[in-house]
Amino acid sequence: MTGNRPDEEADEWSEWLLHRRHGDDPTYDIAVQESVARFAENVLDAAHISPGMTLLDIGSGEGLVAFRAIERFGAVKVILTDISAPMLRHAEQIATHRKVSDQCRFLQLSAQNLAGIADASIDVVVARAAIAYVSDKTAAFNEFHRVLKPGGFISIAEPILQDEAFLTRVLRTRIEAQTAAPRDPFLGLLHRWKSAQFPDTEAACAESPIVNFSERNLVNFANAAGFTAIHMRLHIDIMPSLVTNWSVFLGISPHPWAPSLATILEKSFSPDERDLFEKLVRPTVESGKAVTTDRVAYLNARKPLCPAS
Ligand SMILES: C[S@@+](CC[C@H](N)C(=O)[O-])C[C@H]1O[C@@H](n2cnc3c(N)ncnc32)[C@H](O)[C@@H]1O
Repeated sequence: MTGNRPDEEADEWSEWLLHRRHGDDPTYDIAVQESVARFAENVLDAAHISPGMTLLDIGSGEGLVAFRAIERFGAVKVILTDISAPMLRHAEQIATHRKVSDQCRFLQLSAQNLAGIADASIDVVVARAAIAYVSDKTAAFNEFHRVLKPGGFISIAEPILQDEAFLTRVLRTRIEAQTAAPRDPFLGLLHRWKSAQFPDTEAACAESPIVNFSERNLVNFANAAGFTAIHMRLHIDIMPSLVTNWSVFLGISPHPWAPSLATILEKSFSPDERDLFEKLVRPTVESGKAVTTDRVAYLNARKPLCPAS
């Protein structure tokens, strides 16, 4: 099940999840799916799920966590929520295809306002790479706490992207410090690429929901919302890049709000700059020696059985 049908409306989320995340390359798409599957397993491992429970999947996307929960635990009900109507429709089609529609509900909701989901009605809240995009994370955690039954669990996995923005800021600082000739022209191109995808000033970082929080903030949000038994694990994996094909490398972007490298080269580089950039970057990509770093925060916590006194 790939891509929107031509007659279907798309949005930034469906455009990214179904196309730009993998540069529209079916082979790389499979590699991405395999790579993200482990995040869903880790979320479910820590979620204390048993048959008969009702799960709420926040920012469900293609239903990675929701459908895997049904596969693993059988008779569970899952409410898939997402702000993206096209992604919800896409997930609905997958549910039909998998013959699990009777176990699923689909609701277009933002994590920070789960109106329509009753207080204390959910056994487990799960989320994978969704809360990172929510601007008001305090409100989101308050909503998770509100909808959970006493004793219910939350289990989430969120990317920590602060370091990407930090490195982009370092590039900016180094360029600003390059007063004496000869300047390194590649540094400027690298910064132009990275700063088109991540904020490169303190002020812009503070405004960006994807980089203005750390794993410690997630712990604090859970604590402030009233959760107990809060447990945080930060996994950092530095691995060979999955992308060794130059045209795929050009077509992908790291998150939905970031343009692809192809777009950046087209819009912000002169022909000579493009040539220099390709000459310097392409051999590393194609040699398979490029590395990527994943930083993923896994948080699980419990709503107390009795309200705090
Ligand atoms: C990176 S995708 C992850 C999808 C899925 N959880 C997975 O693991 O593959 C992020 C999803 O969160 C949704 N999303 C973004 N902002 C949201 C918000 N404020 N509330 C709920 N969902 C949101 C997007 O529409 C998208 O489907």
